[in-house]
Amino acid sequence: MKAAKTVTTEDPRLSEVFDKLLGTLRNFIRENRITHEEYRRAVAFLAEVGQKGEVSLICDVFVEVTVDEVANNGRGGTITTIEGPFYVPNAPAMKSPCELPHRPDEKGPVLFLSGVVRSPNGDPLPGTILDLWQSDQQGRYSHFDIPEAVAPYNLRARVAVDHNGKFDVKTRLPGPYEIPKAGPTGALLAAMGRHAWRPAHLHMKIGRQGYRNLTTQVFMNNDPWLESDVVEGAVKSALIVDPVKHDDPDDLRQKNLTEPYYTLTYDFFLEPVIAKAA
Ligand SMILES: [Fe+2]
Repeated sequence: MKAAKTVTTEDPRLSEVFDKLLGTLRNFIRENRITHEEYRRAVAFLAEVGQKGEVSLICDVFVEVTVDEVANNGRGGTITTIEGPFYVPNAPAMKSPCELPHRPDEKGPVLFLSGVVRSPNGDPLPGTILDLWQSDQQGRYSHFDIPEAVAPYNLRARVAVDHNGKFDVKTRLPGPYEIPKAGPTGALLAAMGRHAWRPAHLHMKIGRQGYRNLTTQVFMNNDPWLESDVVEGAVKSALIVDPVKHDDPDDLRQKNLTEPYYTLTYDFFLEPVIAKAA
């Protein structure tokens, strides 16, 4: 019999991490004395996660926070957190000042979000794009819970900062939400006695040439779910913000608003890309 031909791997990194993953998984099975029945249950569960389109959801809920931690270990500037499963690329391009696209009857208090994107020493960074996305006041995302035919890119935009690195964006206060819980991810949480809530937050990816991309979220203070986000570890104290309520009747009239509104100012700091020595 001929000896098996040696196969040279095309992707040594894949080979290395897959072997380690298998080793970890096998040890986990040994240490926890996983039964054959439990193994079959896990296989059926994973198949259902795929069938129901929840692969990104379940990975982002349970694992992405650690990927983010490793990717940004030791990073300077604004602290990062997960992207999550509800990002949609190619949102409308807008220039600050602007208002995020929304339905004519968009519910919830108006929020004026502003700030400056800066380098680590505080210099403003014109030329930056803020890719913003958020849920509506009822905790729903366009493309996922709000049909595209009704409101494509609702409360999503790629906003170019002005020549002073400043952004001024009119939007709505986001609401807290439960991640989809009708499928296997929700069933898993329920079986463990865990809720599916995320505290209200705004998502952003911030990019500028010469600087590392920043993916993060800011979380609304006083949200009942801040301490127990279903995405364990995603909320970081430096990312908790306190929108200021404004209800002066003259001010409201001037802004053509009939309900109290909120303002939120938050500066983002980007880390320069360090050229690696050849
Ligand atoms: Fe979110």
